[in-house]
Amino acid sequence: MKTKVGIIGGGPSGLMLSQLLDLKGIDNVVLEKHTRDYVLGRIRAGVLEHGFAELMREAQCGERMDAEGEIHEGFYIAENNEKKRVDLAGHTGGNSVVVYGQTELTRDLYDARAAMNGKVIHEALDVKPHDINTKNPYLTYRQGDETFRIDCDFIIGADGFHGVSRKSIPKDVLKEYEKVYPFGWLGVLSRTKPVSPELIYAKSDRGFALCSLRSQVLSRYYIQVPLTDSTDDWSDEAFWDELKARLPDDVAANLETGPSIEKSIAPLRSFVAEPMRYGNMFLAGDAAHIVPPTGARGLNSAASDIYYLYHGLVDHYLKGDDTGLDSYSDRALARVWKAQRFSWWMTTLLHSFPDAIPYDRKLQQTDLEYLFSSEAAMTSLAENYVGLPF
Ligand code: APR
Ligand code: PHB
Repeated sequence: MKTKVGIIGGGPSGLMLSQLLDLKGIDNVVLEKHTRDYVLGRIRAGVLEHGFAELMREAQCGERMDAEGEIHEGFYIAENNEKKRVDLAGHTGGNSVVVYGQTELTRDLYDARAAMNGKVIHEALDVKPHDINTKNPYLTYRQGDETFRIDCDFIIGADGFHGVSRKSIPKDVLKEYEKVYPFGWLGVLSRTKPVSPELIYAKSDRGFALCSLRSQVLSRYYIQVPLTDSTDDWSDEAFWDELKARLPDDVAANLETGPSIEKSIAPLRSFVAEPMRYGNMFLAGDAAHIVPPTGARGLNSAASDIYYLYHGLVDHYLKGDDTGLDSYSDRALARVWKAQRFSWWMTTLLHSFPDAIPYDRKLQQTDLEYLFSSEAAMTSLAENYVGLPF
């Protein structure tokens, strides 16, 4: 088979790029390791910055997001028994975020690809990029006993953190920056009414907690846990008790509890791989960078990668102009690092660090006090949370 752009990975990054390129008549193929049901079974975060929401609309996939997603113009930060509002709209000239589950968003992208007869090949095993440093790169993959080859102009590695594309870049070229946090998030999804119409990020002496939501009848809650914990250590009852203990009393008193419909622990990690281009292969999304979930930046740092790549590829094919592709890695990384900084900062501000010395705890306290006493600090938080421009 022959195509222009071979995309490894059918997560939000790969699907979004595929859809955008197809709308411009640029032929592409997506190779996804898993089935569609498996991909759509993964529960991921649910906050979209407005730039990402715009990209969904441009990809003609925004209808359900606009109908069912909720516009949030603020959120709360709670500390022990008090909660204070962060006015996102008021500090960003009216910007907001859209609360819409990433799983639903991925479903919309799959439906859009199917409606356009997009080429998305599921259960493509042993995907390998070849000759990426030449003008004629190609991909191979296996289905059953048969091996297939796809010749392409460009390969896009949108295959997530554990994918194969980043690993195909020679070790002496690739530089990896990583920070692993000494805790994870235990997340619970429950068919209960959300305790608050806006998200609550809670710092407490017992550890961080987050109250989020997917809809008015579906709640998503998280608590910080040690990395040694497993979901078996946490019955639903133990989870609700601990969550309540970390929230202000009035919030805890209103918390509706119920059986969990999903429960999982995710470690917190910051990671960046540089460069994001090698030869004719470009990395995008989680394949190149990971953030801890605290600032809800995961999907949103993928969004700018896709935006730059999309425009770079359109300029290449429709205008014969390679400036966008040539500057891709530097431009993408500049924004990626800002999202890294913000996610690290918000994580550091709100979590209990087991190895913190009293000096660290004083600084953390001061950082929070400064935030709520300075318009400049609040504006900085707000502009990062709604998403820096791209
Ligand atoms: N071959 C083919 N597909 C692969 C391979 C491989 N070797 N390895 C991984 N994949 C697929 C995965 O099954 C997954 O569906 O690539 C896809 C990558 O998707 P994500 O991990 O979701 O990454 P991305 O699309 O960049 O999404 C951005 O934003 O909120 C964050 O981390 C969250 O996934 C989210 C990310
Ligand atoms: C979520 O709803 O899953 C969520 C929301 C905000 C975050 C992280 C996760 O910062």
